[in-house]
Amino acid sequence: METVQRKPIRLIVAVCNGNGIAKDGQLPWNLPSEFQFFLKTLTTVSRPGKMNFLVWGKRTWQSHPETTLPLANTLHVVLSTELKTVPDHAHFLSQDFESAVRLASQPPLADLIETIWIIGGTQVFEDALKHPWCDLVYLTDVMADFECDVFFPAFDRGLCKLLENFPGVPSGIQEENGIKYKCQVFKRETGDTV
Ligand SMILES: NC(=O)c1ccc[n+]([C@@H]2O[C@H](COP(=O)([O-])OP(=O)(O)OC[C@H]3O[C@@H](n4cnc5c(N)ncnc54)[C@H](OP(=O)(O)O)[C@@H]3O)[C@@H](O)[C@H]2O)c1
Repeated sequence: METVQRKPIRLIVAVCNGNGIAKDGQLPWNLPSEFQFFLKTLTTVSRPGKMNFLVWGKRTWQSHPETTLPLANTLHVVLSTELKTVPDHAHFLSQDFESAVRLASQPPLADLIETIWIIGGTQVFEDALKHPWCDLVYLTDVMADFECDVFFPAFDRGLCKLLENFPGVPSGIQEENGIKYKCQVFKRETGDTV
């Protein structure tokens, strides 16, 4: 049997009132600093010689502005049951969530990968929240109403511990383009600690 190296699985998501995350294939808001911090800063930090593994649903990958890539120190896996080839700029294609986790946690990548970051959308978040290696959820509360057609899965914040003043995460209410938002980190109480 292949050796499995356990990796922390961490979600990053921004939700508005009502848990919406997207409308018509796009983010419903324009918060460049929040986006920069979460996607471009957080996911690209790793110890020297290590890389992070980013897991994307097909639509999230396809809806992403090309200007987002490349991201330093990252490898990208796109989840799809229909695609036959790895999409441009991605590194891997997996047919299900567990295969993506296995890719990152078994040879030949296991020694290289530090953290598995879950970029979304809904099904990928749902799979990650059920996974025993999932320890942290970086969640931005966009404190406004937006019409959405994609939603973050049911997430009982009561079962998680809100980590106050988490290192490196902006604390207090932020504001950009007239929209208030709050960056929060939740520790999953039900998951095992990595
Ligand atoms: N606000 C935020 O923080 C945030 C975060 C992420 C995404 N978004 C937005 O959300 C929208 C897309 O989210 P979405 O939920 O509609 O789509 P999605 O998860 O990005 O993509 C859905 C597709 O990905 C594949 N897929 C997803 N989970 C899979 C799994 N476990 N196993 C195999 N394939 C899987 C399937 O492709 P096949 O049909 O090929 O099988 C599925 O049809 C975009 O507009 C994006 O910008 C927002």
